[in-house]
Amino acid sequence: MISSQIQLASYLFASILFILSLGGLSSQESAKRGVLYGIIGMGIAILSTVLGPKVEGHIYIIIAILIASVIGIMLARKVEMTSMPQLVAILHSFVGLAAVLVGYGSYFDPHTQELTGVMHTIHLVEIFIGVFIGAITFTGSVVAWGKLDGKIRSKPLVYFGRHVVNIVLVLICIYLCVLFVGANELSGLMYLNLMTAIACFIGVMLVMAIGGADMPVVVSMLNSYSGWAAAAAGFMLGNDLLIVTGALVGSSGAILSIIMCEAMNRSFWSVIFGGFGAAPKGEAMAVTGEVKATDHEGVANLLKEAKSVVIVPGYGMAVAKAQFPVYAMVEDLRSQGKEVRFGIHPVAGRLPGHMNVLLAEANVPYDVVLEMDEINDDLPETDVVLVIGANDIVNPGAQDDPNSPIYGMPVLEVWNAKDVIVMKRSMATGYAGVQNPLFFKENTSMLYGDAKDSVQKINAFLN
Ligand code: TAP
Repeated sequence: MISSQIQLASYLFASILFILSLGGLSSQESAKRGVLYGIIGMGIAILSTVLGPKVEGHIYIIIAILIASVIGIMLARKVEMTSMPQLVAILHSFVGLAAVLVGYGSYFDPHTQELTGVMHTIHLVEIFIGVFIGAITFTGSVVAWGKLDGKIRSKPLVYFGRHVVNIVLVLICIYLCVLFVGANELSGLMYLNLMTAIACFIGVMLVMAIGGADMPVVVSMLNSYSGWAAAAAGFMLGNDLLIVTGALVGSSGAILSIIMCEAMNRSFWSVIFGGFGAAPKGEAMAVTGEVKATDHEGVANLLKEAKSVVIVPGYGMAVAKAQFPVYAMVEDLRSQGKEVRFGIHPVAGRLPGHMNVLLAEANVPYDVVLEMDEINDDLPETDVVLVIGANDIVNPGAQDDPNSPIYGMPVLEVWNAKDVIVMKRSMATGYAGVQNPLFFKENTSMLYGDAKDSVQKINAFLN
């Protein structure tokens, strides 16, 4: 067992490792190091908490940690890269649930009842806020998991006056907080239960009101909420490390949300209050033109003649696990002196940085992987764009059709290139469920089939 001084020093050390971890995660080159710092920091944090003073029943805690670790390892090993967002969402829900349970546990803790005066009031407010944020995070994350997993329809559930309803519910919770602070133990529990039920309902409604293509912002927002829930739990338990860690996750999640909002051209405040990305009022613009299909040999010939090629990967590349043959193609084309680059949309795939992770896995050099803003201006001078399993992120309707649900979202303007090849299995829509006029453009040809299979066949013709 360790003394409180050693525990404090360990907490400080773990906090530094968490900050270094976040710093490391800011670039692809240092990301692995960042993850390692995070793992070591978390190991130290758990050990110094479990072995610290005032902790009893070590055997039960260790058994619980072992069981949870086995479940966590099994789940993480089993989960496909394409299901990672769902896993992240459900993990956020656990943080929310933990904050709710810590809040209730803290309320029943005899030490809470022994507190008097202002200390008692402050502690009760901490419990109330912690449970409130935790309950919103819990149910909001469960709904986000359902939407990402296709178990709940991704269409936004909007109804007239929902913002007023949300504000009234929050005001009721504030009033319940006042009653809670002044109540005895029994009626206090009733107010706490009531608020928990309302907060659970708010969490459901906030995320239900958010539609298809806007889900990325919700995931990063819930990431931020889970951080604040952890920080609130830290206040309840008087645990400095939990406060620091929660604040780091909360603020970095909020910064990521702001970046995502800019990428989606949405207002940050409308995300916090839910209900952006609402269904448009009019009919979507009619799509004109004809769809042309091409074959693998045709694409290979086009690539042989091209001087500059841009590859735009999307969710379908992740599903097909096509990144390895794509890299082989890039190497081949580059060895022939062609300029080959990747254009990455900030919300391509289903996870922030999803495409970057896949490309890094296939050892694609970082200097040919460009952000949307860096590549869009070069597209008119590009000979061939290969769109591999992407759809919403290359939809011109986001610029031309005010009635499109993704209207206003910046997209990769691939149609400005000389030739565009779209590799996907069918004419099916993408995540946002909207038709893509790109497929009907004169300079676009569709190459149907699984992306990995298609790229392998093109590679065979290139050699
Ligand atoms: P999507 O718009 O979802 O389009 C992916 C396309 O890949 C589909 O149309 C599908 O067409 C095709 N596909 C699927 N499996 C394939 C396979 N094995 N081989 C070839 N093609 C395959 O993806 P995107 O363009 O990457 O855009 C991302 C969307 O997800 C955006 O709407 C974004 O807002 C949303 N979203 C993003 C995130 C984050 S954080 N990135 C989180 C949640 C939601 P077929 O079925 O015809 O093959």
